[in-house]
Amino acid sequence: MPEPDGADIPDLDDRVTVRVHLDPADWSTHLAEETARGLRDRPPWIPPVWFYDEAGSKLFDHITRLPEYYPTEAERSILRDRAGDIARLTSSPTLIELGSGTSDKTMLLLDALESVGTLRTVAPFDVSEEVLRSASRTIAATYPDVTVDAVVGDFHRHLGHVPTGDGAVLAFLGSTIGNLDPDQRGGFLAAAAATLADDDWFLLGTDLVKPVDRLLAAYDDAAGVTAEFNLNALSVVNRELGADFDRTRFRHRAHWDDDGERIEMHLVADGDQTVTLSALDDLVVDLRDGDHIRTEISTKFTPEGVAAELADAGLEVVERWTDADGDFLLTLARRA
Ligand code: AVJ
Repeated sequence: MPEPDGADIPDLDDRVTVRVHLDPADWSTHLAEETARGLRDRPPWIPPVWFYDEAGSKLFDHITRLPEYYPTEAERSILRDRAGDIARLTSSPTLIELGSGTSDKTMLLLDALESVGTLRTVAPFDVSEEVLRSASRTIAATYPDVTVDAVVGDFHRHLGHVPTGDGAVLAFLGSTIGNLDPDQRGGFLAAAAATLADDDWFLLGTDLVKPVDRLLAAYDDAAGVTAEFNLNALSVVNRELGADFDRTRFRHRAHWDDDGERIEMHLVADGDQTVTLSALDDLVVDLRDGDHIRTEISTKFTPEGVAAELADAGLEVVERWTDADGDFLLTLARRA
């Protein structure tokens, strides 16, 4: 889709509101504290947020087009087949999307809700005001009858500010929920349930458990794009937190953790090394040859497991769909 030219579209700015609940300085402090906490832990970890600078976002986009990385295409194919069903079932006036609101997957839902004739408001939610403003303009330009009510926030803290209550669909796609550990998922789902009214909906995308060799290939592709994506986090931490990680002395590793039913991405130290982070009060991290820093968990689910976690949060499954290969799951739920 070409970049919409705002100047040609009357009312574009009238139809876009961006509500900022997250102060950039507050967000930076939060990330610095989380990173310090992770690097003091044994084994150490850093939050996956460091993947997504401009270079990392491009690398992720490349990953979604790799032959080994099936989740994005699998979820898209479910939406291609089922967006109409979702629109008819929910007849929703409002689509709230957690995470960037620009993706073509969101557009499949918006197109379907437009065809049913119910769509009035689109509410993208993201931590980045810049990403959100550009997504909002794209949505407003593409859907001339729609109002965009964008919210800048952190989904662990600001879910209460999304415009639910009118039969809205709150969508959390891409299996991003898999990045959370079980406690964080419980907290997140409880907060999502609390922000939903009885006639609102929750639409959740989750990657499914499958043979380990396929999972490992998806997170350690032959072209090395995922390795580059993982190592890029060190460049971002160097820049953002004044660290001196030597990227050439770490190796990418994807690991299947059977207990947590999750892929973990790690960076493995190649040789003993000492890293200093000047923006974290000169925090010193000592690593021995072979030590791991965990950069991401990517939990894989079963349909029953998703239903059970939803039930724990007071949500019940209304419908669920998989793609033809049974790789990915979309669950539509509401308050029990
Ligand atoms: C965007 C978080 C869902 O966990 O599969 C892709 C990110 N990491 N390859 C995932 C990712 C490595 C992705 N999520």
